[in-house]
Amino acid sequence: MAPSTPVRSSASSLPDVSVSTSKPSTVKTDVLVLGVRTDDDAADLAPTLALLGFTGEKGQVVVAPGGDATKASTVVAVGLSEEPDAEELRRAAASGVRAAIRLKASTTALALQPAGADDVVAVAEGALLGAYRYEAYKTKASDDEARLGAVTVLSAFGRQSTVVDAVEHAAVVARATALARDWVNTPPGDLRPPAFADQIAEVAGRQPVKVSVWDEKRLEKEGCGGILGVGAGSEAPPRLVRLSYEPRKAVTHLALVGKGITFDSGGLSIKSGSGMQTMKIDMAGAAAVVAATLAIAELGLPVKVTAFACLAENMPSGSATRPGDVLTMRSGSTVEVHNTDAEGRLVLADGLALAVEAGADRIVDVATLTGACVVALGERTTGVLGNDDALSDAILDAARTTGESMWPLPIVEEMKSAVTSSKIADIRQHNPKPYGGTLFAAAFLREFVGDTPWAHLDIAGPSFNDGGEHGYTPSGGTGVSVRTLVRLASDLASGD
Ligand code: BES
Ligand code: ZN
Ligand code: ZN
Repeated sequence: MAPSTPVRSSASSLPDVSVSTSKPSTVKTDVLVLGVRTDDDAADLAPTLALLGFTGEKGQVVVAPGGDATKASTVVAVGLSEEPDAEELRRAAASGVRAAIRLKASTTALALQPAGADDVVAVAEGALLGAYRYEAYKTKASDDEARLGAVTVLSAFGRQSTVVDAVEHAAVVARATALARDWVNTPPGDLRPPAFADQIAEVAGRQPVKVSVWDEKRLEKEGCGGILGVGAGSEAPPRLVRLSYEPRKAVTHLALVGKGITFDSGGLSIKSGSGMQTMKIDMAGAAAVVAATLAIAELGLPVKVTAFACLAENMPSGSATRPGDVLTMRSGSTVEVHNTDAEGRLVLADGLALAVEAGADRIVDVATLTGACVVALGERTTGVLGNDDALSDAILDAARTTGESMWPLPIVEEMKSAVTSSKIADIRQHNPKPYGGTLFAAAFLREFVGDTPWAHLDIAGPSFNDGGEHGYTPSGGTGVSVRTLVRLASDLASGD
């Protein structure tokens, strides 16, 4: 089947966002999103809203025509708790903006009563993240939805220049998240490794970032047996993309490594039909590390970042790697392959070895690695594993600040002997037992990082939302971990 061509790009169509100190009652706008707290009884619109069934319950959204007390055509009331935290404000802003999009608004003002500068930023961020939609393959613009052009966050703090800067920062990160979402949503036939590498090089060209792409010949010369072994079954050859951002006053060097399986059929250990249905998402780690690196560069953070996107398509064919084959990896060690569906760890192993060679102070990899992680933590939570508690804690802190749900998992002791239990090679690729698959995979990766502090984010669950939208999370690709990685870099930059 010939792949189709996307007709439009959605990353570029996020609304503009600004902050204004105007009062909600005086703002001329198509839609005014009004946060109504449970303790609010003075709102002019309360009687109308009550007639419409609004109880003020947290998260509730009710639409009402603008009355005499407002210059807005339509009011969208969003229920808030008495003291909403940043995450509640992000979600409320997203719900309000989505309601505005359904109402065909081209301008929306958000009056969510942010209690401080950080809350203003949270509202802006939620609005941008919530406004995302993927329409690249829709031949007709959906006529019931006009394009939301501008969002204004109303707040008395809007005069502070630090707030204006912080909102611009949030917009950069939201656009990077949208870029990662776009890539994850792209049909897999249109984003095979060479095409994905080209697209990365193209967007990276707009930032102060150096790009180099290794094709299959170079990968061979450089001894990247993991990436080549996984890509061997596909007609589209694998690629390794390296991005480097080297600011003049870097305080530290962070390496990011992303799993970029553009489609995971399982290879010869082929998946079931339903098991491979969403496997275009298997490059979400690579998308996230690339998008985060570009955002860090655009923001000019004083952290050197080297990112490796390990791109391969995992397909069954006469040239595919077989269970039983042994691969010689970039690190020089040999791996006995048992299950060609456990391919992510093989491509990451080469990326991690290269990150160590690059001399990074810390390495973080991001991967849709194991179904077992979804079993353990559900569909919305990222598993955090690694060899350095301080780095894991820094990631968990950054995640908490950004509102991304992440949770630590241990690499239990017995996994060390399991990964070294191959009878014919140095390392065993696949867990001999059906338990602890996420932990085994991390123990495998640990073999390739030496003493460098390293953390592994298993995003198999949260990378993709196959249900309806919730909070600021759309259906489809979520862009998970982009915000946490950028936050980690800015925390490292400020010495936190
Ligand atoms: N890409 C999958 C993991 C995955 C599963 C991601 C569900 C997102 C949603 C990975 O390559 C895989 O197939 N893992 C196997 C490993 C097993 C063969 C050891 C798995 O989790 O079943
Ligand atoms: Zn797989
Ligand atoms: Zn996979």
